[in-house]
Amino acid sequence: MRVTIEINGRTVTDEVEDRTLLVHFVRENAGLTATNIGCDTTSCGACTVLLDGESVKSCTVLAAQADGHKVTTLEGLSGPDGEQHPLQRSFREQHGLQCGFCTPGMIMASASLLAHNPKPTRDEVREGLEGNLCRCTGYHNIVSAVIEASGQEVDR
Ligand code: FES
Ligand code: FES
Repeated sequence: MRVTIEINGRTVTDEVEDRTLLVHFVRENAGLTATNIGCDTTSCGACTVLLDGESVKSCTVLAAQADGHKVTTLEGLSGPDGEQHPLQRSFREQHGLQCGFCTPGMIMASASLLAHNPKPTRDEVREGLEGNLCRCTGYHNIVSAVIEASGQEVDR
């Protein structure tokens, strides 16, 4: 089947099998490899992208379901001149990553969280990111990064 998806403002059209997952379309057909595949079973959140502004685990969405819709990946968060998004800066400044494998999904889930709740508490950040797993950081610095990106004082 033929699928057309606007990804980070660019229209990508390709022939795919009916069962092609959105994450595979993003990585292989659009060539955007920041979005990781951790589990392929809806558990880890590494594959999180925005679909029409809402965070989704792209290993649980068929490319066909995104046909005609807009997808944003980590690559789409930076400014046109490569300027980092506030979340990209705060994850670096607050040491919200170690191996970095979970980070693209964490940042996209955080972007969605802040769009719905611009000034979350630390508990609200933890709750909002509970679908995203990190094996390295213990989450504390990830929460701090989201708090910093929201413009609030980081209270340790
Ligand atoms: S790869 Fe999609 S949730 Fe783990
Ligand atoms: S930084 Fe390694 S899994 Fe999160």
